[in-house]
Amino acid sequence: MNIIDIINKKKNKDILLEEEITFFINGYVNNEIPDYQISSLLMAILLNGMNEDETYYLTKAMINTGAIIDLSDVDGIVVDKHSSGGVGDSVTLVLTPILAACHLKVAKMSGRGLTHTGGTIDKLESIPNFKVMLDNKTFIKQVNEVGMAIIAQSDELVLADKKLYALRDVTGTVQSIPLIASSIISKKIASNADMILLDIKVGQGAFMNNEEDAYELATLMIKIAQKFNKKMRAVITAMDNPLGRSIGNNLEVIEAINILKNKEKHELRELSIDLAAIILKETNIVKTIDEGKLLALEKIENNEAFLKFKEFVNAQQGDTTYLDDVSKFARAAHVIAIKTPIKGYLNSIDALVLGQLACSLGAGRYTKDDLIDYSAGIVLKVGINDYLNENDIIGYLHSNKPITNEQLMLFNNAFKIGAFMINKAPLIRVVI
Ligand code: URA
Repeated sequence: MNIIDIINKKKNKDILLEEEITFFINGYVNNEIPDYQISSLLMAILLNGMNEDETYYLTKAMINTGAIIDLSDVDGIVVDKHSSGGVGDSVTLVLTPILAACHLKVAKMSGRGLTHTGGTIDKLESIPNFKVMLDNKTFIKQVNEVGMAIIAQSDELVLADKKLYALRDVTGTVQSIPLIASSIISKKIASNADMILLDIKVGQGAFMNNEEDAYELATLMIKIAQKFNKKMRAVITAMDNPLGRSIGNNLEVIEAINILKNKEKHELRELSIDLAAIILKETNIVKTIDEGKLLALEKIENNEAFLKFKEFVNAQQGDTTYLDDVSKFARAAHVIAIKTPIKGYLNSIDALVLGQLACSLGAGRYTKDDLIDYSAGIVLKVGINDYLNENDIIGYLHSNKPITNEQLMLFNNAFKIGAFMINKAPLIRVVI
């Protein structure tokens, strides 16, 4: 068996055998197959797809490149949530302290930014001193004592995904149903929670642009999880407009803190509460979704969720004085306010354009080794159906590099303003 034959097979739209899939995954992890051949194979998979069996074998081979975390010492119900990736999507930062404040246990492995979408680990690292690597024993101890821990993917679990994820990010091979499904499910099986909620984003800012693809991805992931005897639920949620009002690492952390302090009440808070309610119901903490929403809201309003977030940040050595006073976070050297040239109702904001723009301002990576500028990004001052007068400020661009006219134009063109309000579709499109 050799990698060139496997690449050619996929290039010719053939179905790969389990042993071929295991061969290239092990070869890559053991540094026997180089990045350029795997990049080529990933592109062939992106273009020609994989069937359900191939995706299952891929997921299995990936899981076998690491251990399955043993959570038997965690006292309580362990829950996890994973987003397929969005713009301004900081749900994890808001949702997980709410769940921990409801006495569920959150033992979570998160990822870094992927193309134009942000990653929880990069966001958490924007809190000075925050440690994203914990050894297993410390991780379990923290989950038991604090109720939550969020760590970067350790080398002990699904090593294949760690390498493939970074390679896909910079080779245009993220947007593939089998690659996304195997990436997410391998990590979720290895991290072994009792209840897992998948948040599959759909829309122009997501990897899945239409509901059929999002549905196919969600159902494929649930089927593959079932083959490993793992019960998951999935929601398909809107990602046409950015979810939060901030895009970029420390900017998103600040927004999440403000939500947890009950100071901001936009869509990001709404979706976090809705997802909390689903998890609370699935784990029998509440009997109905409405009861779950009320409980989640109560945890924000009585400050328990914020205090839980602070306890978690402190446990992972982050400087909590930044949480008490968010003005301490690093601010970019250039912050430019952008005004609307016309009046009317804000009908849409292009999440993909703003995600890409935030990357170009410094918030994302273009090569595997790029360093992120934690203070770079975008802060929006307006939301869908707001009425704007000429010259109202619609947002701010933050960057440590001089902001170009092209970037200003991209920002302005991302906003569609019309004479009428639009009918807003619900954030949650389907629960599976
Ligand atoms: N999130 C992941 O963990 N993997 C992907 O491939 C896409 C989003």
